[in-house]
Amino acid sequence: MAKPRVFVARRIPDAGLNLITAACDAEVWPEQLPPSPEVLRQKVRDCDGLVSLLTDKVDTELLAAAPKLKVVSNFAVGVNNIDLPAATARKIPVGNTPGVLTEATADIAVTLLLAAARRLGESATDAKEGRWKTWEPLGWLGCDLVGRTLGIVGMGRIGFATAKRLHHGWGMKVLYTARNPKPEADAELKARHVDLDTLLAEVDFVSVHADLNPTTKGMFGEKEFAKMKRTVVFVNTARGPHVNQSALANALRTGTIFAAGLDVTDPEPLPPDHELYALPNCVIAPHIASATVDTRNAMATMCAQNLLAGVQGRPLPNCVNP
Ligand code: DGY
Repeated sequence: MAKPRVFVARRIPDAGLNLITAACDAEVWPEQLPPSPEVLRQKVRDCDGLVSLLTDKVDTELLAAAPKLKVVSNFAVGVNNIDLPAATARKIPVGNTPGVLTEATADIAVTLLLAAARRLGESATDAKEGRWKTWEPLGWLGCDLVGRTLGIVGMGRIGFATAKRLHHGWGMKVLYTARNPKPEADAELKARHVDLDTLLAEVDFVSVHADLNPTTKGMFGEKEFAKMKRTVVFVNTARGPHVNQSALANALRTGTIFAAGLDVTDPEPLPPDHELYALPNCVIAPHIASATVDTRNAMATMCAQNLLAGVQGRPLPNCVNP
């Protein structure tokens, strides 16, 4: 029997790729940059399965170009690059990689929070560029974490893992927003489920972990930054479009908030001449939250398992549109 045909939209770790190539007639996109939408449409024409990345738009046009498609396996936990209603209407299951990148992403949320709070980006650049003249009693003063209040926006797996690190490590009190209260967080962290306005008014650190959907897109704008304390450190490891970036830049420039740490931006990559890069109180990483060897291997394995289940007509181990 002929092997299922699949297109893998970028080279992923061998831990998953080897499972795919052993069972499928697979074409792997060899370039560093993603295929254009036109090329992607052409590549999936005869395919039974697609491995997509968060850089690949899986929309109605793409699905229409792939009449035989049985599964889309996204190499990510977020699936905002995929038109889920359109895939569901075609009865195409969509897989993702939940759980395996929780700890690595929480580590980056804490890293960015510390880097922004302690002005690490700015001071390291100053040191490298010759502006470190002496030990300065008033130089590069940041803010403490111990005993402060953390606001988690979106208390899912990653929000909880971030809150645990900061509560157990730095004794932070935790407030959070979520569709529903999270009893584990309330019990383990004595966390308080509150509305967004309460969170914005009371916390010293805001860490964003919500899904990107029409209700969360642009949820941080001028009004929200104005409701925060002037000492707030704002961290986003979820998705760039949660934030109105000109409002954020303005809040950072005018001292409406203290600092920001971002692993995600809109667009990605953020053009090097973007105003956020020019702000010393903004630390920007190139969407690296899941970028550890073990995490990417686990994502690749899970992604391959979803793909193989789909092309073989079995339920996906991790399906977002069951
Ligand atoms: C995801 O998986 O959604 C992350 O943003 C990338 O690993």
